[in-house]
Amino acid sequence: MFETAAASEKPDYALLARQVSSILEGERNLTANAAQFSALVYHSISDLNWAGFYLCTPANHPTPEFPHDLLVGPFQGKVACARIPFNRGVCGASAAQRKTFLVEDVHAFPGHIACDSASNFEIVIPVIKDGVLYGVFDIDSPRLNRFSVEDQQGLEAMVAAFVAATDLIA
Ligand code: SME
Repeated sequence: MFETAAASEKPDYALLARQVSSILEGERNLTANAAQFSALVYHSISDLNWAGFYLCTPANHPTPEFPHDLLVGPFQGKVACARIPFNRGVCGASAAQRKTFLVEDVHAFPGHIACDSASNFEIVIPVIKDGVLYGVFDIDSPRLNRFSVEDQQGLEAMVAAFVAATDLIA
């Protein structure tokens, strides 16, 4: 059985990235690894109210620019919205622009989708391998300014360890 430390205000991200690799070792299935990864993040980092994946799926209303929507995948937290178009919310912006969004106050972000009124802070990291976008990893916190740029870099390293350990499906 894998034991993780108590949720931390200032996590040791180098250790967490190594834990991602060791927990996922020997299994490359997307659903299994995304579930394990979400649980590790949610229970290792303090002050979170949601952590999980939105994965690319054929769009309900495809356009040449955005043939995909984001569909909720494995996560920890309360029930969330299921489908997010690429032109909506923080998750859509991260997917469309293929960059991490660190949003200090979600209420000031135009188009933010409020799945849980408790959320005040959000960080969304695109899941990209070999130039292909597979989805995003989304973390919400009730605390304004929960993460710094150092946290962002640590979380990006964790997502990179997940990407390396997993057979992603476009
Ligand atoms: N707030 C996100 C939607 C997803 S939930 O937070 C889980 C957004 O604006 O994209």
